[in-house]
Order: sequence, then structure tokens, then C-alpha cells
Amino acid sequence: MNEKKEVGEKAVDYVEEGMVVGLGTGSTVFYTISKLGNLVQQGLSIKGIPTSKQTEKLAIEVGIPLVSFHEINQIDVAIDGADEVSRDLDLIKGGGGALLREKIIAKAAKAFIVVADPHKMVDKLGSFPLPVEVVPFGFEMTMKYLQELGGSPQLRQKDGIPFRTDNGNYIFDCSFPEITSPEDLEKDLNLIPGVVDNGLFIGMADKVITLNGDKNISIN
Ligand code: 5RP
Repeated sequence: MNEKKEVGEKAVDYVEEGMVVGLGTGSTVFYTISKLGNLVQQGLSIKGIPTSKQTEKLAIEVGIPLVSFHEINQIDVAIDGADEVSRDLDLIKGGGGALLREKIIAKAAKAFIVVADPHKMVDKLGSFPLPVEVVPFGFEMTMKYLQELGGSPQLRQKDGIPFRTDNGNYIFDCSFPEITSPEDLEKDLNLIPGVVDNGLFIGMADKVITLNGDKNISIN
């Protein structure tokens, strides 16, 4: 079985009847959402809250009823992918450009479960360029401040024009020679005027579902 499918589907074990479920974005959690859709067809009653328009569309296609924040008091569990997972279970996210809504939903969830194929597991964060969401106004200045923090920001492009997030913002994919303190970098980035949020998710993941060398499911 494909690794993303295996870890993605395993995450449904953490979803119970009546839960409000934060639905992540990406090709791994795609399998979680698809399997949840099957379970809903078989009678499971849950509500989903999506982290992106792409996931909203998928959830509707597979038949998961959706809610928004004004209709709920809490999110029971959020399930999402990651671009990198460190040994401390800190994450880089945002490869799909959904990092802001993903962080809002992960923070609001009682439990945050990450589905990550083994290629995402790293000793140290930073090989994957860190996505930073910025408002378009004055983005040239924001880019300068990112460089002053030691980053090499590249404005994400799609079809030859700047990529826009679901919030109408731009993304800088920002390489750092080394991320010595992810906690400090997350805070420092978010102090820059124009930065909306960044893809460092520090101390947020409660569980990471991945595969060990034997291809068994392991839960850290
Ligand atoms: C989207 C994300 C994704 O969770 C991350 O990019 C992993 O995606 P995939 O499961 O497709 O590898 O953060 O913003």
C-alpha cells in the first residue's frame, strides 16, 4: 500500500462518533478525509471543519458535513499532514499554502494528530524551505526583513504570477542556513510587520502517525 495512504487512513482510528474534526490539507490527509467519507456513508456522525478551500471541496465530495467556527464550541481532533517533522514533533507546514488556517484549526483542537510518511521525519527542521504567509501590501519590505533574519525568501509563484493563499495573501518560501531555535524563529518571524504567520508549528502536535522501517504503524 502506498505510504501516504497507510498513514492517512490510520488516523481515522482517532475519530469517534459525534466529534468535530479539523480537516487538514494535502496529499496525505486526502486519504484520511476519503476514509472518513466512507465511514460517514456507513453511518458515522461527525462534522468537519476544513483548513482550505481545496479540503472543503473534497469533504463535500465525500459527504462529510461541514461546520464553521460560529457553530461550534470546540474542535475535538484536528488531523493534518506536514512537510517536516522533527524528533521533538515540531513541524514545518505550508507546502500546500494552507498554513494559516491549519494553525488556527490545530490550535483550537483538543488533539492535533499529524500524518507523515517516513520521508517527512527529520533530525532537524530546515531542509524544506519555510513557508511564510505575508500580506501583499509592502511585501518588498517584508522580504527585506526576512533576509535580515537570515532567510533567503522566494516569492511563491503559480502560473507565472504570485500564488495567493485562501486568505488572499502571498507566500515566501524561505530557506535558512540553519534553524537553531525553531521557537525563537517562529516568534521573530511573526513580529515582522506584514507577516501573517509562518509554517513552524512548535509544540502543537500531540501525535505523529508514521511508518517504521518494518512498515508498521508507529505512534510517537
Ligand atoms: C499544506 C500542508 C501539508 O500538510 C503539507 O504540505 C504536507 O502535504 P502532503 O501530505 O501533500 O505531503 O502543510 O499547507
